[in-house]
Amino acid sequence: MNDPHFTGKTALVTGSGAGIGRATAKAFAAKGVRVVVSDISLADAEDTVASIRDGGGEAAAMQCDATDGAAVERLVQATLDRFGSLDFAHNNVGVGTGKSIEDLTEADYRLISDTSLKSVMLGMKYQLPVMRAQGGGAIVNTASMAGISTVQTADIVYAGAKAGVIQMTAHAARTYAPYDIRVNCVAPGLVRTKILSEMFTHEQQMAMADFHLIKRLIEPEEIAAAAIFLCSADAAMITGHCLPVDGGQSAIR
Ligand SMILES: NC(=O)c1ccc[n+]([C@@H]2O[C@H](COP(=O)([O-])OP(=O)(O)OC[C@H]3O[C@@H](n4cnc5c(N)ncnc54)[C@H](O)[C@@H]3O)[C@@H](O)[C@H]2O)c1
Repeated sequence: MNDPHFTGKTALVTGSGAGIGRATAKAFAAKGVRVVVSDISLADAEDTVASIRDGGGEAAAMQCDATDGAAVERLVQATLDRFGSLDFAHNNVGVGTGKSIEDLTEADYRLISDTSLKSVMLGMKYQLPVMRAQGGGAIVNTASMAGISTVQTADIVYAGAKAGVIQMTAHAARTYAPYDIRVNCVAPGLVRTKILSEMFTHEQQMAMADFHLIKRLIEPEEIAAAAIFLCSADAAMITGHCLPVDGGQSAIR
């Protein structure tokens, strides 16, 4: 369906070579949005672009390490050069481990916090001025239920970084609301992605999905649907919000 809110606009999705980012990139493209598919792996970004083009959508693959400020600045400029605007952004990169506090190293701290928190700050740092100059836009950041609840098996650095994403989202929303820019985040529960299957056996995943009231893993497309909603005209009065997509986990107190 032709939706003028989306058709012909441009979205930038980081970490969209796989998982949730790929699903969001495809969902934007299905709405007629031109998508910059950005990932640290160019080959994975190109796979996402091929799948978007197969479906008749428009997309460009761009390699970028989302933890590198100069690279993120170049990525935002390359998006403008390619498509002429930046209307929506999904800052989605993040990495965690299942390590205990005692096993976490300082190198782990840097990797996890740079990937999960700094990348979101850098994304917004370069996206927001472009949207302000354009007269508006919408940003969605990927947080996690690990940033809200302690029942997740995520490590504490990841939990702290994701809690930081939620607060940075609210802070940016407050600062940029006068410029017609909305900033929200999604907080997924356990999502069926590559990283999950690499870290945990099927049995472990099902035991972890027991945190959800709805006893199954979440599909990446179900997170993408929430991200698209937060960017849509239907969400015009929603900003600074953290939307859990968690099978009801946040109802457990
Ligand atoms: N899978 C889950 O259960 C779950 C739950 C809550 C939150 N999340 C969050 O969702 C987001 C996406 O996770 P996913 O499960 O889709 O992971 P994924 O591993 O399936 O995909 C992540 C993508 O990010 C890319 N990437 C990693 N580091 C990068 C960097 N520095 N710069 C650019 N790209 C980079 C990877 O190459 C990969 O393509 C992350 O922020 C993660 O913390 C995931």
